[in-house]
Order: sequence, then structure tokens, then C-alpha cells
Amino acid sequence: MSTSSRKRTDPLPRKPPNVVAIYPGSFDPITNGHLDLIQRGSRMFDTLIVSILRHDTKEPLFSVEERIAMLLEVVHVYPNVEVDSFGGLLVDHATAHSATVLLRGIRAISDYEYELQMALMNRRLRPDIETVFMMANEAYSFISSRLVKEVFGLGGSISGLVPPSVEVRMRQRLSRSILKGA
Ligand code: PNS
Repeated sequence: MSTSSRKRTDPLPRKPPNVVAIYPGSFDPITNGHLDLIQRGSRMFDTLIVSILRHDTKEPLFSVEERIAMLLEVVHVYPNVEVDSFGGLLVDHATAHSATVLLRGIRAISDYEYELQMALMNRRLRPDIETVFMMANEAYSFISSRLVKEVFGLGGSISGLVPPSVEVRMRQRLSRSILKGA
């Protein structure tokens, strides 16, 4: 069962000696906005685990394994950043890794309502796990994986929006589907 035995009025535990944070998301694909947040998070936490949601309701462009490979290609430069995937509740995944922080990015005020709902629900489930919101560099504030896929699919340039290795994989994906006649 995934509910915490801790009561919401219990005092919160002290800061652990090593702070582990989970940065969850779909990352389909990882964008430069995500990468900027990973870089910032790697400077704040002892360990940052970038975790991909398995069994997402959205139809993904890349499989979870492909997304893990794409993430590993770009985060290997940060020694305290790991990549993982999870199913079920995010707070259970965080607990399994002894994580005390959930990291989320906020681009604009429009993100806030959804993020606040998730943060408060996660706090209700696990009062001792804190959600931390960070802002990516403003140069990336308009980028989303959804828009990257849409622009790319319609023939627009995504240069500078995603890491070069991701752009290569997207081109390969497109040429494969053209060959298949999709
Ligand atoms: O990048 P996304 O798609 O906005 O990420 C959403 C994600 C993966 C953070 C969210 O869907 C999630 O945490 N799913 C796990 C299920 C869960 O724990 N739900 C209850 C808390 S809201």
C-alpha cells in the first residue's frame, strides 16, 4: 500500500545528509528546457534522478527505452545525475530511492495550476516529500516536447530547441516512417 503512516500534523524530519531529488516527466523527447533544469538541479541536490513515467496515457513518439538512451547521452556529463523510469505513484518511486524532493519546472503562469494540484496531491500522499519548482532559462520558456514534435513533423527547424543528439534521432525516426510510407 502506498499511503504514508505519517500524520499531516507530525513534525517533518530533518534534512538528510544527502539530498536525493527526482525530476519526473515524459521527456518525449528531452528538450533544451529540460536539460537546463537538469543542469540547475544537479547543482542543488546531491543526487538528481531523472525519471520517465512508464504507461503514460499519451501516445509517445519514442519508447521508454529510447528516451532513457537519449537522456543518458546528454546527462553523462553530470556525475550526480541518474536516469530511471517508474510506474505507479511518483511518491512511491521517490520513497524507493529515499528521495525527499520532487523537482518540477515552471515555464509560465499557465503551468502553475496543474503543477500546484500535483504538488499538493503528492504532499497529501507523502507530507515528508517536498516539491521544488524551478524556472529554466527564459530563452527556453516557450519550449515543450509537444510543440517540438509538432514543428518537426510539419517540416520546421528544431535546431536549438533540443540537444543535437535528439535532433539526429528525430530525423532518423522521420526518415524511417517516410520509408515505411507512414
Ligand atoms: O512531463 P509531464 O508529462 O507533465 O509529467 C507528469 C508526471 C509524470 C510528473 C505525472 O503524470 C506523474 O507524476 N505521474 C505519476 C502518477 C502519480 O503519482 N499521480 C498522482 C500525483 S499527481
